Amino acid sequence: MQLTWLGHSCVLLTGSKKILIDPFVEGRSVLDTNPDLVAVTHGHDDHIGETIALGKKTIAITEIAKYVKSKGLPAEGMNIGGTIFIDGISFTMTAAAHSSWIEEAGIGCYGGTAAGFIIGMDGVKVYHAGDTGLFSDMKLIGELYRPDVALLPIGGRYTMGPAEAMMAANFIGAKMVIPIHYNTWKKITVDPLPFKRAIERTTDIRVNVLQPGESIEINLNA
Ligand code: NI
Ligand code: MN
Repeated sequence: MQLTWLGHSCVLLTGSKKILIDPFVEGRSVLDTNPDLVAVTHGHDDHIGETIALGKKTIAITEIAKYVKSKGLPAEGMNIGGTIFIDGISFTMTAAAHSSWIEEAGIGCYGGTAAGFIIGMDGVKVYHAGDTGLFSDMKLIGELYRPDVALLPIGGRYTMGPAEAMMAANFIGAKMVIPIHYNTWKKITVDPLPFKRAIERTTDIRVNVLQPGESIEINLNA
């Protein structure tokens, strides 16, 4: 499986299918990624992003799935703790400590709660934490689903910062961590390198700091 960080919280997984998570990148469209499926962690603009414009089948919490369906698009609704299988790919919805609404023309409507996903494709399990603060049930997520890769927000202010994300990485126990949701705007400016050094000095977890648009191959035997 190839993993591409497009920027902010937006990640493209390319394997037997192309899955785009949280289709928003500041200053550029992600319509050219042409995914098979779109997964949305919560309703905030910087996550739901171009979901409607993409026009693909969308996996999200029931409230967002209903919103997507109301636009005439296919959607699979689910909720926290549940797993669904689509085209042989598993989507497990995990809790996130965050808020959610869907904003349209300056008015917000209820978007359910914020969530994260464990996505299993081609034998690789990727945990996208969504927007979240630190919570100790991340230990359960690690124990139960044993993700190979964890995508963790480190930008602070709206989510965990590096100190909280360092504890999250330890709770989850994935061998590879990729920081997301930072340096998009001034308010979430973070240098990811001290985070990388601190984790790699104290654990056997490897932190991959990607540039927006950069891809890595997830090779479990490496
Ligand atoms: Ni958010
Ligand atoms: Mn966000």
